[in-house]
Amino acid sequence: MTGHTWSHRHVISLEDFTPNDYQTILQTAASFREVLSRRTKKVPALQGQVITNLFFEPSTRTRSSFELAAKRLSADILNFSPGSSSLQKGETILDTAKTYLAMGANLMVIRHQQAGVPTIIAQEMDRIDSGVGILNAGDGLHAHPSQALLDLFTICSSLDGENPHISQLQGKKIAIVGDILHSRVARSNIWSLSACGAEVHLAAPPTLLPTHFLPAFDQPVRTEDSTMLKRRLYLHWQLEPALEQADFVMALRLQHERMSQHLLPSLREYHQQFGITRERLRLCKPTVRIMHPGPTNRGVELTSDVMDDPNLSLVAHQVTSGVATRMALLYLINGAK
Ligand code: NCD
Repeated sequence: MTGHTWSHRHVISLEDFTPNDYQTILQTAASFREVLSRRTKKVPALQGQVITNLFFEPSTRTRSSFELAAKRLSADILNFSPGSSSLQKGETILDTAKTYLAMGANLMVIRHQQAGVPTIIAQEMDRIDSGVGILNAGDGLHAHPSQALLDLFTICSSLDGENPHISQLQGKKIAIVGDILHSRVARSNIWSLSACGAEVHLAAPPTLLPTHFLPAFDQPVRTEDSTMLKRRLYLHWQLEPALEQADFVMALRLQHERMSQHLLPSLREYHQQFGITRERLRLCKPTVRIMHPGPTNRGVELTSDVMDDPNLSLVAHQVTSGVATRMALLYLINGAK
C-alpha cells in the first residue's frame, strides 16, 4: 500500500515516531479514505484476524471508531466492557488480556485510566512471544497516539485534500489551548506536530499548564537523513500570544473527572480568559481552522457558533478522519507482526 517501511509492532506513544512513520500513516490513511468513499466500503485486508477492544474507561468516539475501522478491514472484533466482565470477580487485567489471547486475538486496543497499562500488557505479550500487537487508545495522562495521528491527518488533509503530506506543516503555527495538565491528547500531539516541523504553542492558566513534562520534549527529531532537528514548543499563560497568526487552534476539554483540586476559579472565568470565540479568532490567520478532540463542553472551551461553523471547524472532520487513520494503524501494526 505504501513504499515505506513500518517497524512498530505496538503503538503505545509517539515518542519514537520518525517523520517517515508519520508520512506512512498519512499515505495509508489517505488510501483507506478512498476505500471509505466507495459504495462497498470494505476491504479484506484483516480477514480472519481477531481484534479486541479493551476499554476500561468511558469512550464514545475512540471505541466506535476502532470498531468501525476493524469492521471495514473485515476483521472480527470483540468488545470488552469492565462493568459486565470477570474483572468484577477479581480477575487481573493481564489475565483478561490472556483470555482474549487464548481465543486467538491478534491485536488489542487498550484504554485505561492508569498510565502504563498498555505498556505492561505489551511487555507481557512479548515475553510470552504471543505475536499480539498492542494499540494504546488512551492511558491516564500519558498518551493517546491514535487521536494525535487522526489530528495530523485532519490538519494535512485540510491543507491538501488529495495528497496530505507532513511537509505542509513546516512553519505552521498550531495553538493547543486548555487543560494541558490532564491531556494525553496534548502530549501526543506535541510529539507528532513538533516532529513534523510545526511550531506548537500551548496556552492555559498556570494551574493547567505544568512545566514538568516539558524537558521530555527536548529530545530532538531524527529525520530520514539522520539530521537532528530541535522541536519548537512555546508556553503561554495567556491566550492571545498563542492565537496571534495561528494556522490551527486545538481546544481541549476541561477534564473535571481528573481534577482533584480546585484548579479554576469558575467555568465562566475560564471561558472569559481562554474560551475560543469568533472575536478572538481575529487574532489568527484568516484561514484559521478550529479543532477539538471531543467530547466538548459547549460555551466553555469554545462557543457553539465557532464549533458549528463549517468554514471554521474541523471537529466533524476529525471524527471522520478517525476511521481511516485507525484502519491505517491496525493494518500497519498487523503487517509488522
Ligand atoms: C479524549 C480522551 O479520552 O483523552 N477524547 C477522545 O479520545 N476523543 C479527550 C477528552 O476526554 O477530553
